Amino acid sequence: MTWAVLRDIYTLLLSRFAVCLTLISSLTAAISVTSTNSWNITNDIEGSVRLNGLAFQQHALTTFGDYQYVAFYKTATGYGKHYVNLGRRRVAPSLGEWQYLAFTDYVQTTLDEHNTISMGISGDGRIHLSFDHHDVPLNYRVSNGGIAKTIPSEWTASAFGSVQHSLPGSTGPWTPLTYPRFESIDNGDLLMEFRIGQSGAGDSWIHRYSSTSGQWSNVGKYLQGQDNNAYINGFTNQDGKLFVSWTVRETPDASTNHDFYFALSDDAGRTWKQTNGQSVTKPITPSTPGIKVFTIPQKSEIINQEAQCADQKGRFHALMRDKSSGTPRFYHYLRTADGKFTKTAINAPGLSTPPYLAYRGKIAATGDNVVAILPDQPKQTVQIWAATAGGGYTDWKKLAEITNMAGEPLVDEQRLDKFGVLSLFVRQGGAFGTRKVQVWDFGLAL
Ligand SMILES: *[C@@H]1O[C@H](CO)[C@@H](O)[C@H](O)[C@H]1NC(C)=O
Repeated sequence: MTWAVLRDIYTLLLSRFAVCLTLISSLTAAISVTSTNSWNITNDIEGSVRLNGLAFQQHALTTFGDYQYVAFYKTATGYGKHYVNLGRRRVAPSLGEWQYLAFTDYVQTTLDEHNTISMGISGDGRIHLSFDHHDVPLNYRVSNGGIAKTIPSEWTASAFGSVQHSLPGSTGPWTPLTYPRFESIDNGDLLMEFRIGQSGAGDSWIHRYSSTSGQWSNVGKYLQGQDNNAYINGFTNQDGKLFVSWTVRETPDASTNHDFYFALSDDAGRTWKQTNGQSVTKPITPSTPGIKVFTIPQKSEIINQEAQCADQKGRFHALMRDKSSGTPRFYHYLRTADGKFTKTAINAPGLSTPPYLAYRGKIAATGDNVVAILPDQPKQTVQIWAATAGGGYTDWKKLAEITNMAGEPLVDEQRLDKFGVLSLFVRQGGAFGTRKVQVWDFGLAL
């Protein structure tokens, strides 16, 4: 072989190697964690159930303007008696100390894991809270003024009105109500979504708060059961579109969950479309044409109300698990901006196979990344994994792990969106008195 030939081979190999390197780096260009901090918010409640950190709390941790807010139950006096508490702290331009208030005029006593707290903040700076439901009349209270916009120096419960059992200005039904969720929309109005009816037989309703008039109105029933009920993964507004995905339950028995459904709205829930953009009649039922996206039979170990999010490029993501392959796996459901769905098992080496009915996870998006926050119940951890659009969302990489976890992690979506910080609300394991409710912040580099 001549020197020239050797040199050519060498050059060729080098260029191949460079291509290879570029390919690898573009496939693994997931985000990384640059800082980790945590705060003990409170001792978790005394009682036989979890009331802090359930997947359907929308939201327990949220950011509005430069402040972050956290809603949680804290033991009032003795076993099974709890107060709704609300914390706030400045998060920009620098972190401030947490300040807390307790609503001592309402004692929560029902030891039932449905009876959580949800929080929403409307564009006029009012903080809305709804709490303590399992097929009971609405419990709702709202701040007296726009205290998230014009920040008062005092942080006391006197800034809030009393507990109400209807939404001022709107019309019912208000009972039997479960799973209140809040979602703000682009013009500063706030939507509230909840189930009326029971597990295995219920409908989902939307109401809208106007930041201009300070009044609520009834947008109407948008999901209707057929002797069954939809359990939504979330209720997500992104850039003028409202996304909802769900599974349907036939009876109160979770093993009757089946299938993956999806719909979107361009007008804040008044009218709805199937994924291909075709309009559907309201209310949507499980037999509405074009609504079912994936067939997953009953007894597939789907857990209702897992997670979903949308990203700034018009993509929609959901997280739901099933054992359709024979083994329970977490799946990433992706809807491209043009309405095409795929469902791909999340390859997370080292993550335990989720036992039936194990804690639910969350999915969040930042830039071209999705972040899956996955509880590993057998190992009592919460693991944070990320994948990239460039890697087809199959290049899952572990970013972080929190130990001693016994609950369902929640994400501050607004803070991630606005400040690029992954802020989580979590519950520790262990006995009452040592077990904390915490907030963890993960700084991210893209
Ligand atoms: C949270 O509480 C635990 C137990 O009391 C303590 O060991 C830990 O240092 C606390 N963490 C923070 C960030 O204060």
